[in-house]
Amino acid sequence: MPSPAFAGPLRLGVNIDHVATIRNARGGDYPDPLRAALMAEGAGADGITAHLREDRRHIRDGDIETLAAQLTVPLNFEMAATPEMQAIALRHRPHAVCIVPERREERTTEGGLDVAGDEARLADYIAPLREAGCRVSLFIGHEPRQIYSAARIGAAVVELHTGHYCDLHAEGRLAERDAELAALADGARHAHALGLEVHAGHGLSFDTVRPVAAFPEVVELNIGHFLISEAIFIGLPAAIARMRREMIDARKPGAP
Ligand code: PXP
Repeated sequence: MPSPAFAGPLRLGVNIDHVATIRNARGGDYPDPLRAALMAEGAGADGITAHLREDRRHIRDGDIETLAAQLTVPLNFEMAATPEMQAIALRHRPHAVCIVPERREERTTEGGLDVAGDEARLADYIAPLREAGCRVSLFIGHEPRQIYSAARIGAAVVELHTGHYCDLHAEGRLAERDAELAALADGARHAHALGLEVHAGHGLSFDTVRPVAAFPEVVELNIGHFLISEAIFIGLPAAIARMRREMIDARKPGAP
């Protein structure tokens, strides 16, 4: 498949996990992640992402039920490749299922999925999800062997992990940041050439989103923690609107 000659539209998926983090800090029922998701929809989000972690530290089973029932934009259900999560996904049949690695002691999803090291099990694991009509996305790093494996087992989508790029930016390690960005760009080209739909996300902010949004092969960004943080100061609709503007501007011909 040839590389796209020009960058088409870029979708924004808004991850509402950290609305649930704040709710759970006090154990009550506010702020409500569903309310945030509906507000994000109204502000132009193209999809809503929610990660039901095994330890239920933010999103809970009931959140997935209300999101699946009430959203009008696609739900991207993030989950670890466990039998429990597969059963939940098959019950709700969300538009997309994004498989992520999960370690209990981590603060967030720290690395990509090792598809190459677990190819046979993951192929069996995603088969019923594909048959149920879910678009299966694998959250991976940019290493070619992970991208090949994702294509080989029949994933529809890969989401490239931008967390390391964002960390390097925050630490001011700019040469390393640029090398990571170049590797992500190669990964996006490679995945697209293998027929995979390419998404990206993790750690993106107004400061870091543009170079990733400029990759012509990328059709969706999933952004959460920064948008929910920024919403404290400027409100969620304004945070989403500004992020959207950054994404659009980044794809204009000749954008810096
Ligand atoms: N994409 C995936 C697969 C993720 O696991 C996460 C974090 O839950 C995100 C995107 C969003 O990351 P952040 O909250 O840092 O924007």
